Amino acid sequence: MSKQRFADQYGPWALITGASAGLGAEFARQLAASGLNLVLVARRADRLNELGERLQRESGIDTLSVPLDLSRPDFMPDLEQAVGDREIGLLVNNAGFGNTGAFLKGRLEDDLRMLDVNCRAPLILTHALGNAMTQRGRGGVIMLASVAGLIPNPYFAHYAATKAWDLFLGEGLHVELKDKGVDVLSLCPGPTRTEFFDVAEVDEDKWPAAARKMIMDADDVVAAALKGLGRRSVVIPGWSNRLLVGSTRVTPRSVTSALAGRVMKMAGG
Ligand SMILES: NC(=O)c1ccc[n+]([C@@H]2O[C@H](COP(=O)([O-])OP(=O)(O)OC[C@H]3O[C@@H](n4cnc5c(N)ncnc54)[C@H](OP(=O)(O)O)[C@@H]3O)[C@@H](O)[C@H]2O)c1
Repeated sequence: MSKQRFADQYGPWALITGASAGLGAEFARQLAASGLNLVLVARRADRLNELGERLQRESGIDTLSVPLDLSRPDFMPDLEQAVGDREIGLLVNNAGFGNTGAFLKGRLEDDLRMLDVNCRAPLILTHALGNAMTQRGRGGVIMLASVAGLIPNPYFAHYAATKAWDLFLGEGLHVELKDKGVDVLSLCPGPTRTEFFDVAEVDEDKWPAAARKMIMDADDVVAAALKGLGRRSVVIPGWSNRLLVGSTRVTPRSVTSALAGRVMKMAGG
């Protein structure tokens, strides 16, 4: 898609949650290069400000940093007040985190917070901004799902379940909103070099070599997503991830799920 068509369909502003690190920061860089202005949302204000100032200098776009904890039940009025009348044409529901380990040994509060950030916040944001987009007859939503959302994963069970939720919401809305001019894409990355595994306390160095080889760079994952937006309902970046997902169609779920659990347990689960 040309830069002008991209801006016409998804501009003038994109709102990216989880823009302070990893895939969110990379979405910010690539969308700034496409000429969109950016609302950057995450908890770490210093990182958002630094990224925003750099993108303003380098790409000549406008940015707005909104330091916000998306696990707060009442985050939306504060976000709406900060955003004001800026027209959001693209929502990137990216903020998220995972934790590993035996489900029953984890703290319920952490899992509830994960549910809030990974599922509740995208639900609220997509509802609010999706309505404005359908009224304009244009726009886009990217849901950060995961390969983990396609394979039940012992010792990563609740995280994988939240990503299955993101995937299902995105795929359903892709069909519902298509005729209203709004493109919805579910992005299913496999393991990607970001801060995710540090937060989840996963030591990827303990994975088997074949699994370590699958780790992708964030710029390739984001480029695949932006290429697929408006054309596809789901993007799985990287041939090895597509092969893995393809193999789950011919292998019983109990087998792939047990294997996924073994890999996760090796790495700290
Ligand atoms: N990396 C992978 O292997 C991988 C694979 C598949 C899917 N994903 C998905 O990709 C998305 C981005 O993850 P990443 O890999 O880029 O991880 P990351 O580097 O750890 O970045 C996560 C982002 O989410 C934000 N965030 C976390 N909790 C938040 C909260 N309570 N309120 C607001 N923002 C919050 C973080 O910002 P603050 O800490 O500043 O709040 C950070 O900007 C997630 O949805 C993840 O599930 C990642």
